[in-house]
Amino acid sequence: MIYANARAKRSHVNRPLAEALAALPDVDVRDLYARYPDYDIDVVAEQRALSCADTVVLQFPTFWFSVPPLLKLWMDEVLERGWAHGPGGTALRGKSCLVVASTRGTEEAYSAEGVHRHPLSSFLLPLEQMALECGMTWRAPIAIHDAYRLDEAGVQRVIAEVMAALGHGDEGGSTKAATAATAAARLELA
Ligand SMILES: Cc1cc2nc3c(=O)[nH]c(=O)nc-3n(C[C@H](O)[C@H](O)[C@H](O)COP(=O)(O)O)c2cc1C
Repeated sequence: MIYANARAKRSHVNRPLAEALAALPDVDVRDLYARYPDYDIDVVAEQRALSCADTVVLQFPTFWFSVPPLLKLWMDEVLERGWAHGPGGTALRGKSCLVVASTRGTEEAYSAEGVHRHPLSSFLLPLEQMALECGMTWRAPIAIHDAYRLDEAGVQRVIAEVMAALGHGDEGGSTKAATAATAAARLELA
């Protein structure tokens, strides 16, 4: 799971979600801002991690209707022509891509009648096309709208929804308390 949040310390929903996912035995959370504070991405390590994954999750808060800058740089540098796409670029072929994106805007704001005029899926089109160019299967994105208004129960619902999407349907509630400490530790180490 590729996690990019430039404001991770003040995060309301992304951080608890990333921590919960980090506690799952089959999920490798790669916290880009923790790993690469100087934006010096280890391309080989990222490609190696991607090679091991069945599903590539991109989790981020929406910044200006797009991805945080380090995630864009990660795409530019890691998804190389000849490796991820183009002639001989088959490394990601057959994998799934799942985007989990939060917004301050409400679901209504992200509609044809709303202030942002389009659903979030429209703003994710470049990512969808990137996934298709790399031969990945594009899964229906998970949108976390109105992120700051989510109460604790709402955050837990989001965690359960993402876990279910990753095949961990029953674990949202039960893992919560037991895993918070270890997950936090793993994120610190990332
Ligand atoms: C630089 C910046 C740009 C943002 N742009 C948008 C935006 O285009 N649309 C939106 O709905 N929210 C926008 N936001 C709000 C973030 O998406 C919101 O802070 C985040 O989803 C909350 O999740 P978190 O607290 O878990 O990080 C922006 C926030 C920042 C700091």
